[in-house]
Amino acid sequence: MTSKPTTVKPWGGRFTESTDSFVESFTESVSFDQRLALHDITGSLAHVRMLAHVKILTDAECRQICAGLEQIAGDIEAGSFIWQSELEDVHMNIEMALVQGIGDVGKKLHTARSRNDQVATDLRLYLRDVVDAVSAQLLTLMTVLTDMAEAEADTIMPGFTHLQSAQPVTFGHHMLAWYEMLKRDRQRLSDCRARINVMPLGSAALAGTGFPIDRAFTADLLGFDAVTSNSLDAVSDRDFVIEFSAAAAMIMMHLSRFSEELVLWISPQFGFIDLGDAWCTGSSIMPQKKNPDIPELVRGKTGRVYGDLMALLTLMKGQPLAYNRDNQEDKEALFDVIDTVQACLHAYAGLLPTLTVNKNAMLDAAERGYATATDLADYLVQKGVPFRDAHAVVGNTVQFAIQAGRKLSELSLAELQQFSERIDEDIYQKLELTGSVAARDHRGGTAPAQVKQAVQQARDYIASLH
Ligand code: ARG
Repeated sequence: MTSKPTTVKPWGGRFTESTDSFVESFTESVSFDQRLALHDITGSLAHVRMLAHVKILTDAECRQICAGLEQIAGDIEAGSFIWQSELEDVHMNIEMALVQGIGDVGKKLHTARSRNDQVATDLRLYLRDVVDAVSAQLLTLMTVLTDMAEAEADTIMPGFTHLQSAQPVTFGHHMLAWYEMLKRDRQRLSDCRARINVMPLGSAALAGTGFPIDRAFTADLLGFDAVTSNSLDAVSDRDFVIEFSAAAAMIMMHLSRFSEELVLWISPQFGFIDLGDAWCTGSSIMPQKKNPDIPELVRGKTGRVYGDLMALLTLMKGQPLAYNRDNQEDKEALFDVIDTVQACLHAYAGLLPTLTVNKNAMLDAAERGYATATDLADYLVQKGVPFRDAHAVVGNTVQFAIQAGRKLSELSLAELQQFSERIDEDIYQKLELTGSVAARDHRGGTAPAQVKQAVQQARDYIASLH
């Protein structure tokens, strides 16, 4: 059965039947790609100015179209723009509104352009702004961590390997480990920004256009560093979306590790830290509980971002050149990546400044964990004992201390000397936690002096970015 088309679609010319309502809802993207609206208009404004510059449009036409687009941008920002799913996507909604607003001259906007190069351009403009916003969020956290590292440069805690107490470290050093991860994350974003900031516009549907366009002119107006070099690649490439999502997945992986530590540390079994009440929640049944839900949710949300990244990689793997409608599926995954990573970074920026340190609990845990056993071994090595032998001697000594229920520093000299005659009175200062951390006094080491230097370097680095 055939029926006459009811809604006038911009592409309706060759069709005799109206679109099935299921097809309309299955193919529409405006419910989610309206998020690109203002960037779509930014792209169109530059395109129209270029068309006037090369005399494809008159200056008067250009002025009319620009005024119409600006009016639409105002309506969208005010929330009064009416989106129609029959018009499929953000691009056609805006174009149709333009024609409605300014009349037939609006129909000239789409000259020398296709939605294929248009959507690729919109996405790049949009993602460029997102990258800048996420980079700023990372920088905020890097600053918070630097401040915490400075305040806790001398605070001793057990350092772990295999989650077993290994050697004492300073809490400031631990904070700076997180700083380093976020610094790399930020660098990854700026690498990826360079590949985002290239303009596909002018590639048209897939082959370029016969109009005498000036791509460099448009690129300049839009702040792109360059124009794409191959039209087929430009309309189908979504590497930049995948690359950003991979960088975001890495951020989430770091935040998730971070979260895991906070969850452990706030548990009464560790008791190393506390988090502000405003950033924790309670249990509806167990009145004693204060739960670290924020880090737990961040840890949990990491899975969503990994899933989105996998969806995007899979979306692209079977596509022949050039544009295919599959590409429309990139947006919801990308937007979910963006929303998730931005919310988690926001959560951390609120949460971290409420973190308080229980120095006694950390110190106590470091002492209970025989964290200076390596220092005893190193001491013996300095007295001429081969390291492997020293390792065995200290193993026996620790075994003895565990049996006796005492710390290494609580063993008498006579007791220590049962294991090696080379041990003297000067061992006690080596068994002190403060001596142990202070000894690791080289670049990258945990000594408080090194932490303070590293803080200074971090501050200089952050300042250099402004
Ligand atoms: N909504 C489409 C997308 O997101 C825009 C491009 C559509 N192009 C086309 N020839 N149907 O990819």
